[in-house]
Amino acid sequence: METKRSSFGGTIGFVLAAAGSAVGLGNIWRFPYLAAKDGGGLFIAIYLILALTFGFALLTTDVAIGRKAKQGPLTAYGKIKKGWGFLGVLGCLVPALILPYYCAIGGWVVKYFFVYLTGSGAQTAADGYFTSFIADTNEPLIMMAIFFFAVSFVIYLGVNKGIESLSKIIMPVLIILVMGISIFSLTIKHEDADGTIRTGLQGLKILIIPNLDGITVGGFMNILVDAMGQLFFSLSVAMGIMIAYGSYVHDDADLPKSINQIEIFDTVVAILAGVMIIPAVFVFMGTEGMSQQGPGLMFISLPKVFAEMGKIGNIIGCLFFAMVLFAALTSAISIMEAVVASFIDAFKMSRIKATSTVGITALVGAAIVCLGYNKLYFEVNIPIAENVQILDIMDYISNNILMPIVSIFTCILIGWVVKPQTIIDEVEKNGTKMSRKKLYVVMIKYIAPVMLFILFLKSIGIINLT
Ligand code: PFF
Repeated sequence: METKRSSFGGTIGFVLAAAGSAVGLGNIWRFPYLAAKDGGGLFIAIYLILALTFGFALLTTDVAIGRKAKQGPLTAYGKIKKGWGFLGVLGCLVPALILPYYCAIGGWVVKYFFVYLTGSGAQTAADGYFTSFIADTNEPLIMMAIFFFAVSFVIYLGVNKGIESLSKIIMPVLIILVMGISIFSLTIKHEDADGTIRTGLQGLKILIIPNLDGITVGGFMNILVDAMGQLFFSLSVAMGIMIAYGSYVHDDADLPKSINQIEIFDTVVAILAGVMIIPAVFVFMGTEGMSQQGPGLMFISLPKVFAEMGKIGNIIGCLFFAMVLFAALTSAISIMEAVVASFIDAFKMSRIKATSTVGITALVGAAIVCLGYNKLYFEVNIPIAENVQILDIMDYISNNILMPIVSIFTCILIGWVVKPQTIIDEVEKNGTKMSRKKLYVVMIKYIAPVMLFILFLKSIGIINLT
């Protein structure tokens, strides 16, 4: 029996769901770090220019492919052009690989949220707290399972009743939390034992004032590639997500407007995450504190910052981890939907069957990732890092290898095989004109594939720009 394909009820639902996907851990634990490291306002300016050009082209392409094909990523590319089904397999492998380890990290966020909620946040500031938590066999598994079942339940409810309804509640709350914590961060001040006073506003300067000191051509290239890699990850392109979400968008929706809104949402939250984190870290730890990113920043440095804030630190920490949890949930939902949509479309499965099949596999994968820090512990070296665990290997394969490859092939398919006009026609289907059309064509044919190739070489450690 052919069941009616799911769809978003309205454009706002689509924009909030896509923004929910885009706003994730990357915005919180990587953007602020890169901005502080890469010359503050200089990095932000480059990032904004790239968002309006490179990001706009890639996001438009993914969403339009999805809407045109009306298929999940696994079958969408083959529908756009016969013989390109292989790209669908790669494009579906990316979210399938990310989902398990993202759920493991989601579990860590659940744990920290609970600890702060029960008023015991200060204990997370102790040295070795995080490592002993992940080294435990049971607790990370339980926390991961809580996160995982929440995600699966939303997917089971479906596009409209699950993803869209939840995003409409969560995203406004997330924005309020991010703004509230940012304002607080700007008001703090601390005096060291030697009498040095550091304020939140001084920290803000590090984030927003362009720093061109000692900049070289190589250094500039490095900032450019950092900004591009961050943008690429942050917009959730090449992960099958925007194809899946695009496939649920009505034909009469105004795509360019929605795409602009998604980009604005994602970028504003990334910058606000910087305003939230950089001043706070600067005030309590000075510039040395800013060398951390990723889990080290979120689960080790920030708890120390919250502890330094005194009594209010537990409240701020609790709001912060609630916000992170919301960001992680909506991203994990989108990554699971990319795989579930693929299974529904490719194998004509019912939503419940696809959710269970994908869910059980991801749950086993996520459990293996958690056990990678204890029972299944081993250390290996990958080209860009030493002594890493299962999570890092999966992250490396999906983000550093597969995503750039999928994206380069997408540019070739659209730019050279079916031609950019296919996407332009899809975007203009509702009668609105696509602005930046010429820019789109140049981007997708020439600039984006070259930039992605450089990013790929850097991601796999072949070139080093520093
Ligand atoms: N845009 C997300 C972020 O910035 O964190 C990227 C993402 C990662 C989306 C993992 C979904 C996901 F499961």
